[in-house]
Amino acid sequence: MSEIKTIGILTSGGDAPGMNAAIRAVARAAMGNGMKVMGIKRGYHGLLRGEIEELTSRDVSDIIQRGGTFLQTARSKNFATEEGVKKGVEVLKIFGIDAIVVIGGDGSFKGARDLANNGIATVGIPGTIDNDVGCTDYTIGYDTALNTAMEAIDKIRDTASSHERCSVVEVMGRNAGYIPVSLAIANGAEAVMVPEYPYDLDEIKRNIIEGRNRGKRHYIIVVSEGVGGSGALCKNIEETTGIETRATVLGHMQRGGNPSVLDRVTATKMGAYAADLLAKGIYNRVVVQKDGKITDLDINEALQTKKTLNKEELDLVERMSK
Ligand code: F6P
Repeated sequence: MSEIKTIGILTSGGDAPGMNAAIRAVARAAMGNGMKVMGIKRGYHGLLRGEIEELTSRDVSDIIQRGGTFLQTARSKNFATEEGVKKGVEVLKIFGIDAIVVIGGDGSFKGARDLANNGIATVGIPGTIDNDVGCTDYTIGYDTALNTAMEAIDKIRDTASSHERCSVVEVMGRNAGYIPVSLAIANGAEAVMVPEYPYDLDEIKRNIIEGRNRGKRHYIIVVSEGVGGSGALCKNIEETTGIETRATVLGHMQRGGNPSVLDRVTATKMGAYAADLLAKGIYNRVVVQKDGKITDLDINEALQTKKTLNKEELDLVERMSK
């Protein structure tokens, strides 16, 4: 491909705090590298509709601290078809866009890979609160979501403690347990249930009863949304233990809020890195964090790379609950 002169940026899938910081960093670094920057609204959905406008440096000011994504986001079913990808390529060509930076999770990177296979230079930046992108140790938004949920669970613990209750708290993360396990450690939960590993409900209930016998005043059980069923679980725990049990589903509040320092800094580093790759004529890559370092890998390899939830962290929850 000849020199990349114009790039497009889009955010796709679930929003994540820090996406705005990433957009700002891509845009400013690209502009600094002499490129023209186009903002694509509403992810691939907006791409298919040609919702594209040039961004100036001022357009991305006053957003580093804001949650969500000012470009809006969407999950596009139409783009996931061969016809959709072809149309996307056509729209990008009409707008003179040589390369595209996609901020999102694995699903969004599949779209980027399809564009790459159709001659569009692409770079992916991992952005999702779930931290479930296999090729990177960290995804933008994870830290902020953890802090938001941690504060909420601290509050739930206050009231659980006053009433000497058990609280079952269902948290996000789709089918990945990174959010629930980190929260269970940070909030000192009695137990955590994640989709990746089996759990023993009888053991959890025995732990609660033994805790009460040792003088515990509250019990927090963190449940991944991928396990679900927190209402039925409450009933079951209450019936066996005789301890009043309440369920809270934290829901979308976990995705909102101003990004943390970690998310702003990581997003800025990853965004600038993505723009620099394109300026060097390097593309069809995903920007990742490995062992604390920002680096990149081939988009096909990135999509095939898996990571696993650390079992030791899961065991730590149990060890700390005694
Ligand atoms: O991927 C981020 C996430 O918040 C998941 O944790 C959750 O399962 C999903 O998105 C919810 O998606 P939606 O906002 O479309 O309901």
